[in-house]
Amino acid sequence: MTDLIILGIETSCDETSVAVLKNGRTVLSNMISTQIDTHRLFGGVVPEIASRMHLEAMNPILEEALRAAQVTFDDLDLVCVTRGPGLVGALLVGMSCAKAVCLSKSIPLVGVNHMEGHICANYISHPDLEPPFVSLVVSGGHTYLIEVTDYTTYRIHGSTRDDAVGESYDKVARTLGLKYPGGPEIDRIAKDGDPHAIAFPRVMIDSGDYDFSFSGLKTAVLNYINTETQNHRTICREDVAASFQEAVVDVLESKSFKLLDELGLQTITLSGGVAANSAIRERFQAHADGMGARLFYPEIKLCTDNAAMIASAGYFHYLKGTRSPLSVETKANLSL
Ligand code: KG4
Ligand code: ZN
Repeated sequence: MTDLIILGIETSCDETSVAVLKNGRTVLSNMISTQIDTHRLFGGVVPEIASRMHLEAMNPILEEALRAAQVTFDDLDLVCVTRGPGLVGALLVGMSCAKAVCLSKSIPLVGVNHMEGHICANYISHPDLEPPFVSLVVSGGHTYLIEVTDYTTYRIHGSTRDDAVGESYDKVARTLGLKYPGGPEIDRIAKDGDPHAIAFPRVMIDSGDYDFSFSGLKTAVLNYINTETQNHRTICREDVAASFQEAVVDVLESKSFKLLDELGLQTITLSGGVAANSAIRERFQAHADGMGARLFYPEIKLCTDNAAMIASAGYFHYLKGTRSPLSVETKANLSL
């Protein structure tokens, strides 16, 4: 089979990213322009600002990605773009750009689910990874425990009933006065804290299903901080961060490996922005090693939002015959 040169485009949240891939796993370029410094001033992503910044960044990033990959528009065989889920105004910028390239070069378009992109980031980092496997997808907006049966088929076994894991990290971090996004900050300061200092609840750990709930944990942390402050006691931010993280990791580990066991599978992957978390990686690695299972997670740059993972996911759908019409629409709440 001849090689396919794929253009990937991702603009679902606050990263404008364009990548060029050869087939589904070889990255020729993966350019990411992040808006984090701007949104940090507001303590979170401001959708209107995100759309405008995508618009400004799109053409330069596109040119940079082609140049870095040493290809031209004429070399492209396929364009894969995030359709959703995400901010609708932000998604529209990437989708319009993708359609323009497809129309002018008469090449096919594949609209991609952003969450599927996160899972496929593992195919890029680990060329030998093949389905079936269990995937824990933990990002700023989503938490899913998924059985990946083949390259394009997924079965969701559990998801969050309220806050996503990344969202709870960001909210707790904000309360502790840490900068946005809070996940990496909690990860960093927790290294100097005692994970057993405060007994926060492991919500739904014994619920008997694979769903999660993180809003109760977030409230417990907020209540703890308020009580300590009212009683004029000093709060050790490192201990709060480490204890919060320990509660999160306990629940994620327990449910993920329970599913792995129930399905009789030997491979588990982490993906999404929170998969960059060092405590989650360490705990999952130890558990997998202990039972002789294989754990995969993407390199940090491929954990957070990027276009390479979108091109990878779109490639596998393309092989199965998927083609999106130029009338395809973005969908803010697109499900897997
Ligand atoms: O996947 P992503 O880049 O965007 C979404 O699709 O949501 O994930 C962003 C989320 C944010 O909530 C951020 O705080 C979290 O990933 N995150 C982390 C770490 N790095 C990023 N959370 C915990 N520990 C980290 N090291
Ligand atoms: Zn994401």
